[in-house]
Amino acid sequence: MKRLHFEAFRPVCPACRAPGAASAVRVAAIDQATTAAGDWVDLLEGMLECTNPDCLREYPVLDGVPMLVADMSGLLRSSPLHFAFREDIGPRVLSALVDGAGPDSELERLLRFLSHYAPDHYGDLDPEPCPGTAPVAPITQLVGAAVEALGLAPLPEGPESSPLVADLGCGVGRGSFALAAATGGLVVGVDLNLAMLQLASRALRRGRARYPVRRVGMVYSWREHPVDLPGAARVDFWMADAHALPFADASLGLVTSLNLIDCLGDPAAHLRELDRITAPGGKLALCTPYDWSPNATAAPGWIGGHSQRAVDGGASEPRARALFGGPLLPRIALQAEVHALPWQLRVHDRSTMHYQTHLLVGQAG
Ligand SMILES: C[S@@+](CC[C@H](N)C(=O)[O-])C[C@H]1O[C@@H](n2cnc3c(N)ncnc32)[C@H](O)[C@@H]1O
Repeated sequence: MKRLHFEAFRPVCPACRAPGAASAVRVAAIDQATTAAGDWVDLLEGMLECTNPDCLREYPVLDGVPMLVADMSGLLRSSPLHFAFREDIGPRVLSALVDGAGPDSELERLLRFLSHYAPDHYGDLDPEPCPGTAPVAPITQLVGAAVEALGLAPLPEGPESSPLVADLGCGVGRGSFALAAATGGLVVGVDLNLAMLQLASRALRRGRARYPVRRVGMVYSWREHPVDLPGAARVDFWMADAHALPFADASLGLVTSLNLIDCLGDPAAHLRELDRITAPGGKLALCTPYDWSPNATAAPGWIGGHSQRAVDGGASEPRARALFGGPLLPRIALQAEVHALPWQLRVHDRSTMHYQTHLLVGQAG
């Protein structure tokens, strides 16, 4: 966790979020850090703590990633492997472990998940890309389209004289680097998957990406290559839940939620958070392919995709538009939209999923 970002974003406790500064989070212990003039600059391992005396919740920092999640114990119980995954296991032993665990085991699912996103975030920088790798990272194209739709008006500035940007559901992080380069802002990439954030953190801190690429079935190649990422100095990655974010009310100049909302258990809670954290005059970029699945979201929480007999025929787009200025996003007015932005995910050597995402851009009053 970079000091620059900690001091600019001033995280608040996602568990108690008491009014005012009472729920500010402080650095309670430093076990590993880079330092300058005797002060920490980048906290790699340690502990954060809520300063509210009635809460005092602890938040660990691991591999440079602060885990600012209210329900840590739930997460530890549901995804223990995310916290214990060793990316240093050699391909021979790892392949034996994957064969042993079997298809759709937690280990194979984690590799598959990393391999869905990492090649599409960093594969364009791989000198020897695997078949099916996009020549231009699809997420950078999405960020480019979002920044264009946001217009040229300067974003409100944060305490470091840079706009504060949160990239929610950042995955393995390439979009956060692209946002920093395109906006000049200080960017925090937020995700709930620690294994993905560790990959992002290594790209940030070591300038190298190392990730599995699914070839076929349970066969994965490991790719490792340098990544030269403009804007990296202004990026940090935090673990947080998009339903309960560790940001103060009205504190961010730009909030992005790219291909996230249809992965969430409670889209309405996420929308309320987007409205809460965007500063007056600040912007929101929301895009989604509306790829609803009951594994992620129970059908009543979907935006469209049900109730075909309604006047809108169950379409998602008019319901998404109507959110702006409505009860879940009362402060945010819709400014622009792009109906169909191409986005793709590599599945394996012979399969790529192609989406057309719907981008909506708004501004907080
Ligand atoms: C479809 S991926 C999109 C990744 C990236 N934004 C992109 O467009 O390539 C959705 C991401 O949201 C993350 N995610 C899912 N639920 C989340 C939650 N409750 N809070 C934060 N991130 C979450 C997943 O781990 C995953 O990285």
